[in-house]
Amino acid sequence: MSVTAPLPHDAAPLHVTGGARYIDDIPTPAGTLHLAFGQSGIARGRITAMDLAAVRAAEGVVAVLTAGDLPFANDVSPSAHDEPLLSDGTVHHVGQAIFLVVARSHLAARKAARLGEITYEEAEPLLSVEQALNADSRFEDGPRIYEKGDAATAIAAASHVIEGSIEIGGQEHFYLEGQAALAVPQEGGDMLVHSSTQHPTEIQHKVAEAIGVPMHGVRVETRRMGGGFGGKESQGNALACACAVAARLTGKACKMRYDRDDDMVITGKRHDFRITYRAGFDDTGRISGVEFTQYTRGGWAQDLTLPVADRAMLHADNAYLLPNARIESHRLKTNMQSATAYRGFGGPQGVVGIERVIDHIAHDLGLDPVEVRKRNYYAEAPDADAGNTTPYGQVVEDFELHGMTEALLASSDYAARRAAIAEWNASHDIIKKGIAFSPVKFGISFTLTHLNQAGALVHVYQDGSVHLNHGGTEMGQGLFQKVAQVAASRFGIPLEMVKITATDTAKVPNTSATAASSGSDLNGMAVKAACDTIRDRIAAFLAERHQADATTVRFADGQVQVADASYTFAEVAGLAYAGRVSLSATGFYKTPKLEWDRIKGRGRPFFYFAHGAAVTEVAIDTLTGENRILRADILHDAGASLNPALDIGQVEGGYVQGAGWLTTEELVWDDKGRLRTHAPSTYKIPACSDRPDVFNVALWDGRNREDTIYRSKAVGEPPFMLGISAFLALSNAIASCGDAYPALDAPATAEQVWTAIRRVRNGI
Ligand code: MTE
Ligand code: MOS
Repeated sequence: MSVTAPLPHDAAPLHVTGGARYIDDIPTPAGTLHLAFGQSGIARGRITAMDLAAVRAAEGVVAVLTAGDLPFANDVSPSAHDEPLLSDGTVHHVGQAIFLVVARSHLAARKAARLGEITYEEAEPLLSVEQALNADSRFEDGPRIYEKGDAATAIAAASHVIEGSIEIGGQEHFYLEGQAALAVPQEGGDMLVHSSTQHPTEIQHKVAEAIGVPMHGVRVETRRMGGGFGGKESQGNALACACAVAARLTGKACKMRYDRDDDMVITGKRHDFRITYRAGFDDTGRISGVEFTQYTRGGWAQDLTLPVADRAMLHADNAYLLPNARIESHRLKTNMQSATAYRGFGGPQGVVGIERVIDHIAHDLGLDPVEVRKRNYYAEAPDADAGNTTPYGQVVEDFELHGMTEALLASSDYAARRAAIAEWNASHDIIKKGIAFSPVKFGISFTLTHLNQAGALVHVYQDGSVHLNHGGTEMGQGLFQKVAQVAASRFGIPLEMVKITATDTAKVPNTSATAASSGSDLNGMAVKAACDTIRDRIAAFLAERHQADATTVRFADGQVQVADASYTFAEVAGLAYAGRVSLSATGFYKTPKLEWDRIKGRGRPFFYFAHGAAVTEVAIDTLTGENRILRADILHDAGASLNPALDIGQVEGGYVQGAGWLTTEELVWDDKGRLRTHAPSTYKIPACSDRPDVFNVALWDGRNREDTIYRSKAVGEPPFMLGISAFLALSNAIASCGDAYPALDAPATAEQVWTAIRRVRNGI
């Protein structure tokens, strides 16, 4: 088998037949109890009285816990210890967990949870960017600033200057499987936890703190998630800790899953941003200096806000060599759900900022935005004169977008279609069309450098079958399949010989979250190392038996060749076992070359960059603002793809999710801080019918210049940012209605589009 075969997802048949087991499908022990949180009805204040008598008396209720009943730590924060599992007497957002109901059924727990009578002393919630700024409510002192050159001087000297601002909304993860956990007490106070999480080690860590045992007393298992998208990096902690604490107190297995509305009201979402900008440029659109101020609302607890906001700063350049740049970032603490990781981890928000600037410049100069983009691109390879350095000082060594852009413009017939659209718009008043190209350059690696490590555990059994385990988690992205392909190819055996197994903190310890798109880069390498250790042992054993050189032993096509002899892999496994050769090994990998100082904003946070480019065509109805994507063409850089079928799936899904973020997915909080869009009836994710009618996706044929697993590139998040082309295409269509720049905010809902058309028509 070739390592790069376009094989389907290993669990695809199980996904579509209902055979795939999610947390709620795991058979539970008799007497399993079910949990629900009693939630805060206000956004900010202090609890003055709590009457839970009706909750305790409700049918099926076994126990009701408040913060005082927690035996050990009351903290589910992944970072700053500022996130109690149950309210400590203060409340910080509508939906915050105040008490925990333990009942005989899921429904009984949920019904009882509503019966709590809580009296509050209410305070004025901090909801808007202005309110937070006025109150100086932040997660870090003052703004963080990354700088290159002197932007203000460059802008002052420029022949053209634009300025503006854009609002960029947040996004609900809308994983199909909601948050869920199941804790099963073991002998001697140990706990087994099944959790729908991207981060089993963190669940283990937080559960251990919550039940007062060392980490060795907790084992966390995750076979798969029904989608995570970043929403299960930290947001599963509360459910797992609640289950473990209740299981410890009752001695029964405890399960918790959020109903969809609860999931949307309780858990954090993508960070929304306001970005203001000022840019100086010449007659050709070449930028000499740019200043960004990024404001983000992080919600009530720190969670992952600092690294998310850092990554937004680190992507404020996207594909463009900015000679002078200043990026200022404000991380605001507000009385809302604690915003969290979401595909791209702040990167998309940063990229929208600079793409908006380029679009604005092109409009100002009356140029094709593609030309302005190309003129500002990084050079393909480092150039001693031009520098080719990012605003944070990393040299861009592997910029693929010059070739990719030309290839995509040709395959999508961009120039001819742009002309045809101009013609259409000149002769049609009601339906207007727009087209836009946008590139992405995305940095690959965790910016917290120590997270860039992974472990694996591989066993070869006597019959030649292989048990594969590593620290990565499967959330639908196809990581397990890709890594199994690596293992099969190292041993030269068919894929069926490799058993994919659940992530398990007892098999591989101290793992990082499966995040930052690094799953296959890190775990693929760790698995390769483990397989190669076993391979080398087998080769040495066979070489001695045949008086041959160990380096000549070959593993391919299910056979192992040594000198003139040829064995099946199964025969070799049997022989090695009988010869007392260890057939089990661990593997470890850490990403090389990284060096990063997040305070100074200097160094090399990323091992390499992944690239992509998209052309999107849209149509808008100028009477209603309704709009749709007619066609999308994408060329994406997955390096030497480990599995082109899965990678194309990631590109398609990423694009649609990115376009959804910037078009239909709107989060609305009222002035009391209540989320009004907490169900699919009011929150509109793209449906199957919303995908582009014509959708051409291809992979750019290139090897990673860095030494990654089989020279592939990470692909999970970067294509998300290709959805930005849909937003820019809408702006382009609106621009055809008048002379003014549309200055569209995101999401560009029908209402936003309609309003922007009115603005453009009235010249404001
Ligand atoms: N694809 C599917 N189907 N489901 C998901 O939850 N999460 C995305 C991306 N693609 C996700 C997905 C996010 S946020 C990340 S960081 C990566 O997958 C994580 O997996 P990887 O590191 O193996 O690419
Ligand atoms: Mo992805 S946002 O890094 O889980």
